[in-house]
Amino acid sequence: MTRPLVHVTRRLPEVVERQLAEHFDLVLNLRDSPTDPDILAAALASADAVLCTVTDRLDGAVLRSAEPLRARILANFGVGFNHIDVAAARERGLVVTNTPGVLTDDTADVALALILMTARRLTEGERCLRAGAWAGWAPTQLLGMSLGGKTLGVVGFGRIGRAVARRAHFGLGMRVRYVSRTPLPDAEEVARDLGAAAAPSLAALLAESDVVSIHAPATAETRHLIDAAALARMRPHAILVNTARGDLVDEAALAAALRAGTIAGAGLDVYEGEPRVHPELLGLENVVLLPHLGSATRETRRAMGERALANLVAFFDGREPADRVA
Ligand code: 8YV
Repeated sequence: MTRPLVHVTRRLPEVVERQLAEHFDLVLNLRDSPTDPDILAAALASADAVLCTVTDRLDGAVLRSAEPLRARILANFGVGFNHIDVAAARERGLVVTNTPGVLTDDTADVALALILMTARRLTEGERCLRAGAWAGWAPTQLLGMSLGGKTLGVVGFGRIGRAVARRAHFGLGMRVRYVSRTPLPDAEEVARDLGAAAAPSLAALLAESDVVSIHAPATAETRHLIDAAALARMRPHAILVNTARGDLVDEAALAAALRAGTIAGAGLDVYEGEPRVHPELLGLENVVLLPHLGSATRETRRAMGERALANLVAFFDGREPADRVA
């Protein structure tokens, strides 16, 4: 019996590739190079499934250019799928799946790390030391902001937003406020456990928070949710943290706010045009810049791979994949 052919766009942990090979014939990207539109279109035309990642721009043009289309499913390795034009995929009869849940805690850990690194100016300190510029302890050197008793504003109160709220409240003693665009059935119950309250609006949340952490999905509606006007609502000592998607923040406006000191700092793991980072951000001291590390642990990358595999196996067995998003 012939096995389905799966085109895997990037190298995955060895253990995941081995498990995939037990079920499917594979095309692997041995050089692990980011895929360009021609390669993606060719993959869609030649394989039964494409196992893709955030670095694959599967927009309408790519999805429509695969002719004839052989693929029947896009199994995304990751929870966010804004790099896939879901409407175009649907039009072409492609099923789309993602990997929710398994990366919640690791991503929340990185958000918490960014909150600490930014509020306590830790990377500034490390840069100073490595540059040989540390002259020894001083009472006024690199003073940051205490986090205990301060207000964390969580934008998006889904799995990751709640996990960050839990860490900040129980670990750091922060008070939590949140906003959520989609009404989530158990939000109030979760919030009660954290002593958290919904803010009446994003504008109110921005105005009262000492730390704002973004955990909303990237959609046409949330693009530049944090723009110049939103940044102007934040307090001058406040910091912004983004581990969700770069598109949610207007990077040029953020760089301007950080330069002018209308907010105190930012901690970023994601960017508008990855791997490009706005050049002005690169020159600023009061921003911590990480290279999209939210889910980057051995355990989670394996779990993500196994989740994508389970979705593919279910699909080719004629069952409904657990994480179908389209
Ligand atoms: C992944 C992420 O590493 O899952 C997501 O949405 O942002 C990351 O943690 C990336 O998407 C892998 O494709």
